[in-house]
Amino acid sequence: MRQPLVAGNWKMNGSKADAADLLNSIKAGAANIHKAEIAVCPPFPYLYKMEELLAGTGIRWGSQDVSRETNGAFTGQVSAVMLKDFGCTYAIIGHSERRMFNAETDAIVAKKYEQALASDLTPILCVGESLEEREHGRTEEVVARHLDAVLEGLGAEAIGRGVIAYEPVWAIGTGVTATPEQAQEVHAFLRQRIRAKSQPQADAVRILYGGSMKPVNAMELIGQADIDGGLIGGAALKASDFLAICAAAEANA
Ligand code: PGA
Repeated sequence: MRQPLVAGNWKMNGSKADAADLLNSIKAGAANIHKAEIAVCPPFPYLYKMEELLAGTGIRWGSQDVSRETNGAFTGQVSAVMLKDFGCTYAIIGHSERRMFNAETDAIVAKKYEQALASDLTPILCVGESLEEREHGRTEEVVARHLDAVLEGLGAEAIGRGVIAYEPVWAIGTGVTATPEQAQEVHAFLRQRIRAKSQPQADAVRILYGGSMKPVNAMELIGQADIDGGLIGGAALKASDFLAICAAAEANA
């Protein structure tokens, strides 16, 4: 049985004060969550707050990106070793916004994934098709390519050490959510592709759904056989919404 995970991706939002308020509310509400796992991924500067406010709670934290380099003259980048030093458990890798706005290729994503594993961080590998790709019937081809960057490049064991997030680009921040059937279909496809390499890794790996998940649709999405939780953007910025999604995961644990 896979433990559901609900991870909040705060993106580039908030302030020191907002981060503290949000965390304190989540902390208070999370007292009722025992079986599902909760994580928050704030912007880099607020990671020190996570250590301060979340140490000793069951809530984990992570980054939204990681450098593909180990250390040295890479102005503006943050290494996996540093993230580990700040107590991160997770690192989101290959989010569609980074693929889009920072020209991240599959090769770069695979390097970042490798860096995360080398520092004992759990990578959350984002995969997902655009609306145009879906409409042209290319969804499976695109998510397979995103997955294979790691599955073929680093192996099934590397996939098993991470988490996958299926995030259809057309559903991110748009308010349009994939239907539970649409999401389940892609999740099952991804798991099947991993199964072709390794049955145990396919059975164990958690595949999250992301893209306008909110309290009103979380229960049905997380209730699908191959959906093991959510990567939450907009709804992760409001404690009551985020906690309602965590409660849906708890009910499915
Ligand atoms: P959203 O974002 O929940 O606001 O759609 C999800 C994500 O980009 O991780």
